[in-house]
Amino acid sequence: MSPPNTPRLESRLPAVGTTIFTVMSALATQYQAVNLGQGFPDFACDPALVNEVTRAMQAGHNQYPPMPGVAALREAVAAKIEGLYGRSYRALDEITITAGATQAIFTAVMALVHPGDEVIVLEPCYDSYQPNIVLAGGVVVRVPLTPGGFRPDFAKIAAALGPKTRAIIINTPHNPSGTVWSEAEMLALQDLLAPTNVFVISDEVYEHMVFDGAQHQSVARFPGLAARALIVSSFGKTYHVTGWKVGFVAAPAALTTEFRKVHQFNVFTVNTPVQHALAAYMADAKPHTQLPAFYQRKRDLFRHGLAKTAFKLLPCQGTFFQCADISEVSDLNETEFCEWLTRKIGVAAIPMSALYADGFDQRVVRFCFAKEDATLHAALERLQSL
Ligand SMILES: Cc1ncc(COP(=O)(O)O)c(C=O)c1O
Repeated sequence: MSPPNTPRLESRLPAVGTTIFTVMSALATQYQAVNLGQGFPDFACDPALVNEVTRAMQAGHNQYPPMPGVAALREAVAAKIEGLYGRSYRALDEITITAGATQAIFTAVMALVHPGDEVIVLEPCYDSYQPNIVLAGGVVVRVPLTPGGFRPDFAKIAAALGPKTRAIIINTPHNPSGTVWSEAEMLALQDLLAPTNVFVISDEVYEHMVFDGAQHQSVARFPGLAARALIVSSFGKTYHVTGWKVGFVAAPAALTTEFRKVHQFNVFTVNTPVQHALAAYMADAKPHTQLPAFYQRKRDLFRHGLAKTAFKLLPCQGTFFQCADISEVSDLNETEFCEWLTRKIGVAAIPMSALYADGFDQRVVRFCFAKEDATLHAALERLQSL
C-alpha cells in the first residue's frame, strides 16, 4: 500500500516566511545577546494587575463573556477616550474588545476590504498589515514615508488615492521610526480624505508613549477622520502585558456592526478574567498618564549611551523604539549588520528593511528600549566599542 499523501498546497501567502523578529530572537538566544530586537518589556507588569486577574477568576468570571467584550471594560475604554481625546464612543455599539491589536487589524481589514479593493499602507510599517490585505483579496498600495524623516508625504498619498481605494492604514506613534504625527498632519489627512469614500484603520497601540510634552493626535480628536475610522489600540503595550493579547477597536456604530460580524466568527470572544481585571485596573489613570515619563527616562538613558558611539541617532518622539543610522559604524547592509551585531557584539536589533515589502535598505536599525535599566546598561556597555 502506498503511504498516505498530503495534498499539494497552494499557499495563500507565498511570499511570507519566518518573520525577522523570530529570526533575530532565536539568534539572540543562540549567542546570548542582549535582545533589543523584538518589541516587548523585559520587566514585570504591576502586581496589582495580576491580582485583579486572580480575583476575577476566583469570583467566577471564567466562562464566555459577551461577544463584543465585558461591558465594564468597554465602558472604561469609552470613558478614557472621551477624557483624553474629547470624543464620545458608545460602549454598547461602538467599542469592541479584541484579542490584541493584531487581531483587531486583521478583522478590520476583513470587514472592509473586498477582492480587488486597494488599501494604502505607509512604509515602513508593522508587518501584519500587508498579509492581512492580501488574505482579504485586496491590493496593497505602498506609499513610503519621507526618506530619513519618516513623515507622511501627502503628495504621494494623494497620488495613490483612486476610485479603487477602500482604506488607508496609519500608525502614530509609529513603529519602527518613533515619529508622532502632528495636529497639522492629521488635519492634512482629514482634508485629503474629505471628498473620498476611503476608510481609515488607525493603529494607535503606542498612544500612551509620546514624549517631550507632545500630545498623541488620536484620530478620535478629528471628527472628519473619526467618522470613517476604526481606531485600534492594545492593553499589552500600555500595561506591560504584551503576552495577554487584549486590545480594542473604537468605531462609529455602522462600522462597528460590520467589524463585529467578522469578529464573532474570528475569535468570538476574548479572555474573560483578563477583561474584568483590566476594567478594574483602569479605574486608576496613573498607569497610563505616567507612562510617557517612564519611557522618556529610558529613552534618554539609552540615547545618552548611544551618543558616545558612531551610531547616528534618529529622533524618537514616541513608542519604545530608538532607530539609529549605521553608516559610520559599518559597511554591511542592515540585515547583515544586525546578524553581525548579535553574533560579535552581543546585542540584537531589527533591520528597518524588514518592514518594507521590497527590503529597502537605508542603513537604519531599530532598538527596543522597553527594558530594565540593567539590560539597557548591559547593551550600551557592549555597544561602546562601536
Ligand atoms: C504598530 C503595531 N501595531 C500592532 C501591534 C500588535 O499589538 P498586539 O500585541 O496587541 O497584537 C504592534 C506590536 O508590536 C505594533 O508595533
